[in-house]
Amino acid sequence: KELRIGVIGVGAIGTEHIKRINHKIKGARVVGIYDVLEEEKKQLADEMGIMFYGSGEDLISSDDVDAILITSIDETHADYVLKALAQEKYVFCEKPLAIDSQSCAKIVEAEVKCGRRLVQVGFMRRYDKGYMELKKLIESKSYGEVLMLHCAHRNPESGLHYTTPMSIIQTAVHEIDVLHWLLQDDYVSVESILPKKQTKMTHTNLHDPQILVLETKNGVVIQLEIFVNCQFGYDIKCEVVCENGELGLVDPHYTYVKHNFSNQTPISPDWQTRFKEAYDTEFQLWVNGVLNHKLEGPSSWDGYVASVITTAGTESTNKGEKIKVMLQEKPSIY
Ligand code: NAI
Repeated sequence: KELRIGVIGVGAIGTEHIKRINHKIKGARVVGIYDVLEEEKKQLADEMGIMFYGSGEDLISSDDVDAILITSIDETHADYVLKALAQEKYVFCEKPLAIDSQSCAKIVEAEVKCGRRLVQVGFMRRYDKGYMELKKLIESKSYGEVLMLHCAHRNPESGLHYTTPMSIIQTAVHEIDVLHWLLQDDYVSVESILPKKQTKMTHTNLHDPQILVLETKNGVVIQLEIFVNCQFGYDIKCEVVCENGELGLVDPHYTYVKHNFSNQTPISPDWQTRFKEAYDTEFQLWVNGVLNHKLEGPSSWDGYVASVITTAGTESTNKGEKIKVMLQEKPSIY
Protein backbone atom coordinates (compact mmCIF):
# COMPACT_ATOMS: atom_id res chain seq x y z
CA LYS A 1 0.00 0.00 0.00
CA GLU A 2 1.21 3.48 -0.84
CA LEU A 3 1.19 6.09 1.92
CA ARG A 4 -0.80 9.19 0.92
CA ILE A 5 0.82 12.29 2.42
CA GLY A 6 -0.65 15.77 2.87
CA VAL A 7 1.82 18.65 3.30
CA ILE A 8 1.09 21.80 5.32
CA GLY A 9 3.35 24.80 4.56
CA VAL A 10 5.04 24.60 1.18
CA GLY A 11 8.00 26.97 1.45
CA ALA A 12 11.71 26.19 1.03
CA ILE A 13 11.98 22.89 2.86
CA GLY A 14 8.38 21.82 2.17
CA THR A 15 9.08 22.01 -1.56
CA GLU A 16 12.31 20.01 -1.11
CA HIS A 17 10.51 17.32 0.89
CA ILE A 18 7.71 17.05 -1.69
CA LYS A 19 10.30 16.46 -4.45
CA ARG A 20 12.06 13.98 -2.22
CA ILE A 21 8.89 12.01 -1.42
CA ASN A 22 7.66 11.95 -5.02
CA HIS A 23 10.96 11.19 -6.72
CA LYS A 24 13.22 9.36 -4.30
CA ILE A 25 11.21 7.72 -1.56
CA LYS A 26 9.55 4.35 -2.09
CA GLY A 27 6.06 3.62 -0.78
CA ALA A 28 4.67 7.16 -0.52
CA ARG A 29 3.40 10.09 -2.56
CA VAL A 30 2.11 13.58 -1.83
CA VAL A 31 -1.61 13.84 -2.58
CA GLY A 32 -2.43 17.32 -1.30
CA ILE A 33 -1.09 20.54 0.18
CA TYR A 34 -2.19 23.57 2.17
CA ASP A 35 -0.40 26.88 2.64
CA VAL A 36 -1.61 30.32 3.74
CA LEU A 37 -0.25 31.74 0.47
CA GLU A 38 -3.38 30.38 -1.16
CA GLU A 39 -3.20 31.76 -4.70
CA GLU A 40 0.46 30.95 -5.27
CA LYS A 41 0.35 27.45 -3.78
CA LYS A 42 -2.97 26.53 -5.38
CA GLN A 43 -1.28 27.10 -8.71
CA LEU A 44 1.56 24.85 -7.59
CA ALA A 45 -0.93 22.14 -6.60
CA ASP A 46 -2.62 22.45 -10.02
CA GLU A 47 0.74 22.10 -11.76
CA MET A 48 1.45 18.98 -9.72
CA GLY A 49 -2.01 17.61 -10.34
CA ILE A 50 -2.76 17.32 -6.62
CA MET A 51 -5.40 18.68 -4.27
CA PHE A 52 -5.17 22.13 -2.65
CA TYR A 53 -7.10 22.05 0.64
CA GLY A 54 -9.05 25.02 2.00
CA SER A 55 -7.30 24.80 5.38
CA GLY A 56 -4.80 22.75 7.35
CA GLU A 57 -7.70 21.26 9.29
CA ASP A 58 -9.44 20.10 6.08
CA LEU A 59 -6.23 18.44 4.93
CA ILE A 60 -5.68 16.73 8.29
CA SER A 61 -9.20 15.30 8.47
CA SER A 62 -9.42 14.26 4.80
CA ASP A 63 -10.06 10.55 4.19
CA ASP A 64 -7.66 10.78 1.24
CA VAL A 65 -4.72 11.69 3.49
CA ASP A 66 -3.06 8.95 5.60
CA ALA A 67 -0.20 10.96 7.09
CA ILE A 68 0.65 14.64 7.53
CA LEU A 69 3.91 16.46 6.90
CA ILE A 70 4.21 19.84 8.64
CA THR A 71 6.72 22.24 7.08
CA SER A 72 5.03 25.53 7.88
CA ILE A 73 6.62 28.22 10.08
CA ASP A 74 7.65 27.31 13.66
CA GLU A 75 4.75 29.08 15.43
CA THR A 76 2.15 26.94 13.63
CA HIS A 77 3.62 23.44 14.27
CA ALA A 78 2.10 22.57 17.67
CA ASP A 79 -1.47 23.34 16.71
CA TYR A 80 -1.33 21.23 13.54
CA VAL A 81 0.36 18.33 15.38
CA LEU A 82 -2.36 18.34 18.04
CA LYS A 83 -5.04 18.33 15.32
CA ALA A 84 -3.39 15.36 13.60
CA LEU A 85 -3.23 13.52 16.94
CA ALA A 86 -6.93 14.25 17.52
CA GLN A 87 -7.53 12.28 14.28
CA GLU A 88 -5.00 9.61 15.39
CA LYS A 89 -3.00 10.21 12.21
CA TYR A 90 0.75 9.88 11.72
CA VAL A 91 2.47 13.23 11.55
CA PHE A 92 6.00 14.24 10.62
CA CYS A 93 6.75 17.71 12.00
CA GLU A 94 9.82 19.66 10.99
CA LYS A 95 11.77 20.94 13.97
CA PRO A 96 10.89 22.56 16.33
CA LEU A 97 7.94 20.52 17.56
CA ALA A 98 6.64 23.72 19.20
CA ILE A 99 8.04 27.10 20.17
CA ASP A 100 7.88 26.42 23.92
CA SER A 101 8.30 23.39 26.20
CA GLN A 102 4.74 23.60 27.59
CA SER A 103 3.29 23.09 24.11
CA CYS A 104 5.71 20.18 23.53
CA ALA A 105 4.56 18.63 26.82
CA LYS A 106 0.95 19.00 25.69
CA ILE A 107 1.74 17.10 22.50
CA VAL A 108 3.50 14.35 24.49
CA GLU A 109 0.39 14.09 26.70
CA ALA A 110 -1.95 13.89 23.68
CA GLU A 111 0.20 11.20 22.05
CA VAL A 112 0.36 9.17 25.27
CA LYS A 113 -3.45 9.27 25.29
CA CYS A 114 -3.39 7.71 21.79
CA GLY A 115 -1.39 4.90 23.40
CA ARG A 116 1.27 4.67 20.66
CA ARG A 117 3.78 6.77 18.76
CA LEU A 118 2.33 8.81 15.91
CA VAL A 119 4.68 11.79 15.80
CA GLN A 120 8.18 12.11 14.35
CA VAL A 121 10.22 15.32 14.57
CA GLY A 122 12.59 16.40 11.76
CA PHE A 123 15.93 16.01 13.51
CA MET A 124 17.71 14.55 10.49
CA ARG A 125 21.23 14.45 11.92
CA ARG A 126 20.43 11.03 13.40
CA TYR A 127 20.30 9.71 9.82
CA ASP A 128 23.70 11.06 8.78
CA LYS A 129 26.09 8.19 8.01
CA GLY A 130 28.81 9.80 10.11
CA TYR A 131 26.71 10.09 13.28
CA MET A 132 25.30 6.58 12.76
CA GLU A 133 28.82 5.15 12.53
CA LEU A 134 29.96 7.15 15.56
CA LYS A 135 27.07 5.69 17.57
CA LYS A 136 28.07 2.13 16.63
CA LEU A 137 31.70 2.83 17.51
CA ILE A 138 30.72 4.29 20.89
CA GLU A 139 28.42 1.37 21.65
CA SER A 140 31.13 -1.16 20.72
CA LYS A 141 33.04 0.08 23.83
CA SER A 142 36.26 -0.71 21.90
CA TYR A 143 37.65 2.67 22.90
CA GLY A 144 36.51 2.65 26.51
CA GLU A 145 34.00 5.06 27.99
CA VAL A 146 33.21 8.44 26.43
CA LEU A 147 34.75 11.22 28.51
CA MET A 148 33.99 14.44 26.63
CA LEU A 149 32.90 15.87 23.28
CA HIS A 150 34.26 18.84 21.33
CA CYS A 151 31.73 19.96 18.75
CA ALA A 152 31.26 22.85 16.37
CA HIS A 153 28.38 24.08 14.23
CA ARG A 154 29.67 26.65 11.75
CA ASN A 155 27.82 28.38 8.95
CA PRO A 156 29.61 30.54 6.38
CA GLU A 157 27.32 33.48 7.07
CA SER A 158 23.94 34.48 8.49
CA GLY A 159 21.78 37.46 7.58
CA LEU A 160 20.73 40.50 9.61
CA HIS A 161 17.53 38.68 10.70
CA TYR A 162 19.66 36.22 12.69
CA THR A 163 19.99 37.24 16.35
CA THR A 164 21.80 36.01 19.49
CA PRO A 165 19.18 33.52 20.81
CA MET A 166 18.85 31.93 17.36
CA SER A 167 22.35 30.45 17.71
CA ILE A 168 20.87 28.15 20.35
CA ILE A 169 17.23 27.86 19.26
CA GLN A 170 17.75 27.41 15.51
CA THR A 171 21.31 26.19 15.19
CA ALA A 172 22.62 24.38 18.30
CA VAL A 173 19.26 22.56 18.53
CA HIS A 174 20.53 20.04 15.97
CA GLU A 175 23.48 19.09 18.19
CA ILE A 176 21.25 19.19 21.28
CA ASP A 177 19.09 16.50 19.71
CA VAL A 178 21.69 14.33 18.04
CA LEU A 179 24.14 14.24 20.95
CA HIS A 180 21.78 12.87 23.61
CA TRP A 181 20.78 10.20 21.09
CA LEU A 182 24.43 9.51 20.26
CA LEU A 183 25.35 9.07 23.91
CA GLN A 184 21.99 7.59 25.03
CA ASP A 185 22.26 9.95 27.96
CA ASP A 186 20.25 12.88 29.39
CA TYR A 187 21.35 16.46 29.93
CA VAL A 188 21.54 17.78 33.49
CA SER A 189 22.83 21.30 32.91
CA VAL A 190 23.46 23.92 30.23
CA GLU A 191 25.76 26.91 30.28
CA SER A 192 25.95 29.52 27.56
CA ILE A 193 29.18 31.47 27.19
CA LEU A 194 29.44 34.65 25.14
CA PRO A 195 33.14 35.17 24.41
CA LYS A 196 34.24 38.80 24.59
CA LYS A 197 36.13 38.50 21.34
CA GLN A 198 33.69 38.48 18.43
CA THR A 199 34.07 38.34 14.67
CA LYS A 200 33.76 41.68 12.89
CA MET A 201 31.50 39.88 10.38
CA THR A 202 28.63 40.02 12.90
CA HIS A 203 26.16 42.82 13.68
CA THR A 204 24.80 44.48 16.84
CA ASN A 205 21.99 41.96 17.44
CA LEU A 206 24.11 38.84 17.11
CA HIS A 207 26.82 37.64 19.47
CA ASP A 208 29.07 35.49 17.29
CA PRO A 209 30.68 33.06 18.06
CA GLN A 210 29.07 31.49 21.14
CA ILE A 211 29.87 28.43 23.24
CA LEU A 212 27.44 26.07 24.88
CA VAL A 213 28.58 23.66 27.60
CA LEU A 214 26.26 20.72 28.26
CA GLU A 215 26.68 18.18 31.06
CA THR A 216 25.05 14.75 31.02
CA LYS A 217 23.81 12.40 33.73
CA ASN A 218 26.81 10.12 33.10
CA GLY A 219 29.14 13.05 33.66
CA VAL A 220 30.14 13.64 30.03
CA VAL A 221 30.91 17.31 29.25
CA ILE A 222 30.09 18.59 25.77
CA GLN A 223 31.66 21.77 24.50
CA LEU A 224 29.78 23.16 21.49
CA GLU A 225 30.97 26.12 19.45
CA ILE A 226 28.31 27.93 17.42
CA PHE A 227 29.86 30.24 14.83
CA VAL A 228 27.45 31.37 12.15
CA ASN A 229 29.67 33.79 10.19
CA CYS A 230 32.82 31.69 9.89
CA GLN A 231 33.16 32.57 6.17
CA PHE A 232 34.92 29.39 5.05
CA GLY A 233 32.12 26.83 4.76
CA TYR A 234 29.43 24.82 6.50
CA ASP A 235 31.51 22.93 9.00
CA ILE A 236 30.25 20.36 11.48
CA LYS A 237 32.63 18.92 14.03
CA CYS A 238 31.97 16.18 16.53
CA GLU A 239 35.04 14.83 18.31
CA VAL A 240 34.29 12.14 20.83
CA VAL A 241 37.15 11.71 23.30
CA CYS A 242 37.18 8.24 24.85
CA GLU A 243 39.44 6.62 27.44
CA ASN A 244 41.39 4.91 24.70
CA GLY A 245 40.81 6.75 21.45
CA GLU A 246 39.17 9.62 19.64
CA LEU A 247 36.25 9.25 17.21
CA GLY A 248 35.06 12.00 14.89
CA LEU A 249 33.18 13.11 11.80
CA VAL A 250 34.75 13.76 8.41
CA ASP A 251 33.08 16.24 6.07
CA PRO A 252 31.85 14.03 3.19
CA HIS A 253 33.82 14.63 -0.01
CA TYR A 254 35.02 12.53 -2.93
CA THR A 255 37.88 14.48 -4.49
CA TYR A 256 40.87 16.61 -3.62
CA VAL A 257 43.11 18.97 -5.61
CA LYS A 258 46.91 18.97 -5.35
CA HIS A 259 48.25 22.19 -6.79
CA ASN A 260 50.95 24.75 -6.09
CA PHE A 261 52.44 22.65 -3.27
CA SER A 262 49.15 22.41 -1.42
CA ASN A 263 46.59 19.65 -0.99
CA GLN A 264 42.99 20.91 -0.93
CA THR A 265 39.82 19.09 0.01
CA PRO A 266 36.46 20.83 -0.37
CA ILE A 267 34.21 21.85 2.55
CA SER A 268 30.39 21.62 2.26
CA PRO A 269 28.97 25.04 1.34
CA ASP A 270 25.68 24.66 3.24
CA TRP A 271 23.49 22.33 5.30
CA GLN A 272 21.45 21.27 2.28
CA THR A 273 24.59 19.79 0.71
CA ARG A 274 26.09 18.43 3.93
CA PHE A 275 22.96 16.54 5.04
CA LYS A 276 21.36 15.73 1.67
CA GLU A 277 21.61 11.97 2.14
CA ALA A 278 20.49 12.20 5.76
CA TYR A 279 17.18 13.80 4.68
CA ASP A 280 16.59 11.03 2.11
CA THR A 281 17.26 8.30 4.68
CA GLU A 282 15.13 10.12 7.26
CA PHE A 283 12.08 10.13 4.97
CA GLN A 284 12.50 6.57 3.67
CA LEU A 285 12.70 5.22 7.23
CA TRP A 286 9.76 7.38 8.35
CA VAL A 287 7.58 6.05 5.50
CA ASN A 288 8.66 2.47 6.27
CA GLY A 289 7.93 3.06 9.95
CA VAL A 290 4.45 4.43 9.29
CA LEU A 291 3.57 1.59 6.90
CA ASN A 292 4.76 -0.97 9.49
CA HIS A 293 3.20 0.94 12.42
CA LYS A 294 6.57 1.17 14.14
CA LEU A 295 8.13 4.63 14.42
CA GLU A 296 11.73 4.69 15.60
CA GLY A 297 12.89 8.20 14.65
CA PRO A 298 13.02 11.30 16.88
CA SER A 299 9.81 11.47 18.90
CA SER A 300 7.64 14.12 20.55
CA TRP A 301 9.63 13.33 23.67
CA ASP A 302 12.84 14.30 21.83
CA GLY A 303 11.07 17.45 20.61
CA TYR A 304 10.20 18.22 24.25
CA VAL A 305 13.78 17.57 25.44
CA ALA A 306 15.21 19.85 22.73
CA SER A 307 12.80 22.58 23.75
CA VAL A 308 13.65 22.34 27.46
CA ILE A 309 17.38 22.51 26.68
CA THR A 310 17.17 25.41 24.22
CA THR A 311 15.01 27.31 26.72
CA ALA A 312 17.55 26.66 29.49
CA GLY A 313 20.35 27.70 27.11
CA THR A 314 18.64 31.01 26.40
CA GLU A 315 18.04 31.53 30.12
CA SER A 316 21.74 30.92 30.70
CA THR A 317 22.65 33.52 28.07
CA ASN A 318 20.39 36.05 29.78
CA LYS A 319 21.48 35.31 33.37
CA GLY A 320 25.14 34.58 32.67
CA GLU A 321 25.08 31.42 34.78
CA LYS A 322 24.80 27.64 34.44
CA ILE A 323 21.20 26.36 34.41
CA LYS A 324 20.17 22.99 35.86
CA VAL A 325 17.77 21.07 33.65
CA MET A 326 14.56 19.49 34.93
CA LEU A 327 12.71 17.05 32.67
CA GLN A 328 9.33 15.46 33.30
CA GLU A 329 9.10 11.69 33.83
CA LYS A 330 9.54 9.98 30.45
CA PRO A 331 6.33 8.14 29.46
CA SER A 332 6.70 4.45 28.63
CA ILE A 333 5.65 4.74 24.96
CA TYR A 334 8.99 6.44 24.22
P1 NAI B 1 9.61 29.03 4.63
O1 NAI B 1 9.31 30.35 5.21
O2 NAI B 1 10.35 28.94 3.34
O3 NAI B 1 8.24 28.21 4.45
C1 NAI B 1 7.21 28.22 5.38
C2 NAI B 1 5.87 28.11 4.65
O4 NAI B 1 4.82 28.01 5.64
C3 NAI B 1 5.55 29.31 3.77
O5 NAI B 1 5.17 28.88 2.46
C4 NAI B 1 4.37 29.99 4.49
O6 NAI B 1 3.48 30.63 3.62
C5 NAI B 1 3.73 28.80 5.17
N1 NAI B 1 2.86 29.13 6.30
C6 NAI B 1 2.96 30.17 7.18
N2 NAI B 1 1.96 30.12 8.08
C7 NAI B 1 1.21 29.04 7.78
C8 NAI B 1 0.05 28.45 8.34
N3 NAI B 1 -0.54 28.98 9.42
N4 NAI B 1 -0.44 27.34 7.76
C9 NAI B 1 0.14 26.79 6.68
N5 NAI B 1 1.24 27.29 6.10
C10 NAI B 1 1.77 28.40 6.64
O7 NAI B 1 10.39 28.24 5.77
P2 NAI B 1 11.30 26.94 5.64
O8 NAI B 1 12.73 27.34 5.59
O9 NAI B 1 10.77 26.06 4.58
O10 NAI B 1 11.08 26.26 7.08
C11 NAI B 1 9.87 25.63 7.43
C12 NAI B 1 10.07 24.84 8.72
O11 NAI B 1 11.04 23.83 8.52
C13 NAI B 1 10.56 25.69 9.89
O12 NAI B 1 9.86 25.33 11.05
C14 NAI B 1 12.03 25.34 10.02
O13 NAI B 1 12.50 25.39 11.35
C15 NAI B 1 12.05 23.91 9.51
N6 NAI B 1 13.35 23.58 8.88
C16 NAI B 1 14.03 22.49 9.31
C17 NAI B 1 15.26 22.18 8.78
C18 NAI B 1 16.03 20.98 9.25
O14 NAI B 1 17.22 20.98 9.10
N7 NAI B 1 15.43 19.96 9.77
C19 NAI B 1 15.87 23.01 7.74
C20 NAI B 1 15.03 24.12 7.30
C21 NAI B 1 13.82 24.38 7.88
